[in-house]
Amino acid sequence: MKVIKLETVDSTNIYAKSHIENLCDRTIVHALRQSKGRGRFNRVWVDLGENNLFFSIILKPSKEFSSVCPNITQYASLSLCHVLEKYGVSPKIKWPNDVMIDGERKISGVLSETVMQGRELQGLVVGIGVNLNANKSDVENIPDRIVTALNLEIGKPVNMEVFLNEFLDEFFKNYDEFLKSGFQFIKNEYIKKSCFLNKDLKVQVLSEIKSGFAKGINDYGELLLQTENNKELVLNIGDIL
Ligand code: BTN
Repeated sequence: MKVIKLETVDSTNIYAKSHIENLCDRTIVHALRQSKGRGRFNRVWVDLGENNLFFSIILKPSKEFSSVCPNITQYASLSLCHVLEKYGVSPKIKWPNDVMIDGERKISGVLSETVMQGRELQGLVVGIGVNLNANKSDVENIPDRIVTALNLEIGKPVNMEVFLNEFLDEFFKNYDEFLKSGFQFIKNEYIKKSCFLNKDLKVQVLSEIKSGFAKGINDYGELLLQTENNKELVLNIGDIL
C-alpha cells in the first residue's frame, strides 16, 4: 500500500480521480488541508484544520470488484466505527454511510466516486473525512447538520497519523474477504451498528422525499421502507433527513 502525502489540495478525491491512471490499486492520497472538499450530493465538506483527516483510497477493479462496488462506502463506514470504538465512543451508522456519535452528531463521511474509461471501470475513489480535532465553535458553525469531532467527544487531542494507520489496518484486514462475499459479509454487523432502523423516516431520493418505516436492510445494503399504504420501497440511494 502506497500513501501519497500532500500539504494542501483542492480535494483528495479530485486529485485521486485525475491521477488514477498512474496510481495503483490500494494507493492512499492523504492531504493536511483541503480547500474544496466535497461530500455526497455535492455538499461542502468543511476543512476544520490541520489535524483532521482528509484522504482517499484508490481501488482498482479485480474480478470480484463490480458486485461490491455499491457497498464499499458501507464497508468503510463500518471500519470507521470499529476504529472509533477503540477511542471509547459509541459510533452508529446512518444509512448508507454517515458515521454518527450517539446516533445524532456526525463525525465522519464517505464519498465514493467511480472513474470510467469509456464503458470500463478504471477505478474507484473512496474519499473519507473524519473530524478528529476541532474547536467547538467551528463545528457549531457548520450549517444544516449537527457535527462533532473526536477530541470534543473524548476531551483530549487525537493523533491524526495514528488514527489513519489504525483505519487503514482495519479497512484492509477484511477487504479481500469483503471482495469475495460482498455486503453479506458485513450485513449483520452493519445492522447492529445502524441507528435508522425501526423508525419512521423521511428520505431524500434525488428530487423526491419518500416517507416510511425503515423495516430493514436487504442483502445488497439497500434500505427497505414500508410506506403508509403498505408498499415496500427498496432504496439504493438517498439521504435520511
Ligand atoms: C459526506 O458525508 O457527504 C461525505 C464526505 C466525504 C469527505 C471526504 S474528505 C476527503 C475526500 N475528499 C473530498 O473532497 N471528499 C472526501
